[in-house]
Amino acid sequence: MNKDIAFRMPDVTDGADIWRIVRDSGVLDLNSAYLYLLLCKDFRETCIVAEQDGRLIGFATGYRPPGREEVIFLWQIGIDASQRGQGLGKRLLGRFLRNAAAAGATRLETTISPSNAASQALFRGAARDLGTDCQVSPGFTADLFPSGHETEELYRIGPFDAAATARLPS
Ligand SMILES: CC(C)(COP(=O)(O)OP(=O)(O)OC[C@H]1O[C@@H](n2cnc3c(N)ncnc32)[C@H](O)[C@@H]1OP(=O)(O)O)[C@@H](O)C(=O)NCCC(=O)NCCS
Repeated sequence: MNKDIAFRMPDVTDGADIWRIVRDSGVLDLNSAYLYLLLCKDFRETCIVAEQDGRLIGFATGYRPPGREEVIFLWQIGIDASQRGQGLGKRLLGRFLRNAAAAGATRLETTISPSNAASQALFRGAARDLGTDCQVSPGFTADLFPSGHETEELYRIGPFDAAATARLPS
């Protein structure tokens, strides 16, 4: 496991780097650079980034859905290709759930495409480590998208408490 990785909340100077990791992932939906700037400004407390030698190598973005206090939604998570499969995704997820702004959430929600085996493994593994259930439902079906896009299946992981999140690595 990498020891020299620093984790912190993003700020607006990270928006372009997050956009680049998403672009280079070849898997994640690439949104406008402006949207990542907004996330880094107005939703930074429910996001997390990882950097090594001053270079951004991973991120997770999310928010607390209004009116559903029990939920923390993870929108996108991405790891630089050179760093995948070394535990960083799970560390970022652990930090994401332990962010102060995630306090009180007892359920993690995210959406994943059926073809994304790595992401499914990450979230199913997290549910296992949290000692809780992982329910999968259709989420956003393909017909809701304007053009050729896989269904985004909704993963609902929980319930869990703060003590359980401590079982995910730091
Ligand atoms: C998905 C992603 C964030 C996972 O991060 P990562 O650092 O590679 O994952 P980790 O090393 O922390 O592994 C977490 C778990 O997933 C498993 N896993 C990781 N990559 C995998 C792969 N390609 N196939 C199957 N399982 C995989 C690991 O074995 C581990 O399982 P465990 O909990 O049973 O030990 C990373 O692969 C990525 O950035 N992919 C491209 C972007 C993406 O798909 N984002 C998610 C969209 S919702």
